[in-house]
Amino acid sequence: MDSYVYLLYIFILSHSIVTFCHCQIFVFITEPRVTSIVPLNSTALTVNWEFASQAYDQSDLIRIYIVFYEFYYTYNRVYASTNYTFTTANKTITSLTKNFELVNAYYYVCFSSNSTVTNVSQYLSIINSCTLTRTCSRSGNSCPGPSVVTVLATNITSNSFTILFLWPNDLPYTWNSSAVKLTNNSQTVSAYLSSQNNTYTTRSYQFTGLKSQTSYTVNASFSYAILGGTPTTNITILTVKTSCSSKLLCADDLLFLLSCSMILFFTNALK
Ligand SMILES: *[C@@H]1O[C@H](CO)[C@@H](O)[C@H](O)[C@H]1NC(C)=O
Ligand SMILES: *[C@@H]1O[C@H](CO)[C@@H](O)[C@H](O)[C@H]1NC(C)=O
Ligand SMILES: *[C@@H]1O[C@H](CO)[C@@H](O)[C@H](O)[C@H]1NC(C)=O
Ligand SMILES: *[C@@H]1O[C@H](CO)[C@@H](O)[C@H](O)[C@H]1NC(C)=O
Repeated sequence: MDSYVYLLYIFILSHSIVTFCHCQIFVFITEPRVTSIVPLNSTALTVNWEFASQAYDQSDLIRIYIVFYEFYYTYNRVYASTNYTFTTANKTITSLTKNFELVNAYYYVCFSSNSTVTNVSQYLSIINSCTLTRTCSRSGNSCPGPSVVTVLATNITSNSFTILFLWPNDLPYTWNSSAVKLTNNSQTVSAYLSSQNNTYTTRSYQFTGLKSQTSYTVNASFSYAILGGTPTTNITILTVKTSCSSKLLCADDLLFLLSCSMILFFTNALK
């Protein structure tokens, strides 16, 4: 039985190779890829890419298209695509440096390529492999990259706490949704309060009716997108411990108090 299956396998394999060779479609094509996007100073970026080794890539006509989307708070624009055509003989350019008018702005850099094997009319087209980046600070001394969304717990009491999402206003993502859940008791809060200052748009979720001095595991997630693209979900897990109830002494405090009085007792006894 086993050897029968094996023979069948050999037959299928050899048959498919024959088919491949007959149709002349057995070519390897791999796309060029971005290796890094480097902020040079407060107004310029360099995009670096590499071509696949010819051991894996038999394409003889490669087109590269690079598009920069620029964002500065509510302002945005798109620059005309920078296009390159390469043949096997002249794959010489592997970077593009672009200087912009704005200082310390955000850029969504989209890299597309079309690698073709001309004599068999086969191609591999990769459209919009995009990265969010940012030029350096105004002084040019630091290049910290895009701001990030911060998730944290505040206003912790013995029976409640609040989970905050701090969304930097300069981030060019659009907020799709957010959800906060306690994994201990599956409690969720769907209503949130939203407020805004110059730096952040804050969304806060308040949990109430909790036990004092208890560790809660919070699953906080939000989903965002850029330029109407596919949404991405970010999940943050936080552990939040509610405080002591003010009226009662907590177990830890009691122990601490007890050891303090013991030390007092002994130091007094030693005198
Ligand atoms: C940033 O670097 C680019 C490219 O080297 C250069 O053209 C531009 O003048 C520089 N800008 C500043 C503000 O230094
Ligand atoms: C490579 O050669 C092709 C065909 O001669 C030409 O169209 C293209 O501009 C060249 N590309 C570069 C980067 O020199
Ligand atoms: C890629 O290049 C091939 C050959 O020039 C062309 O037929 C095809 O339409 C191109 N594909 C895309 C998505 O541009
Ligand atoms: C904006 O709000 C956040 C969150 O409440 C706070 O941490 C930050 O200090 C505020 N910034 C300004 C400039 O008021």
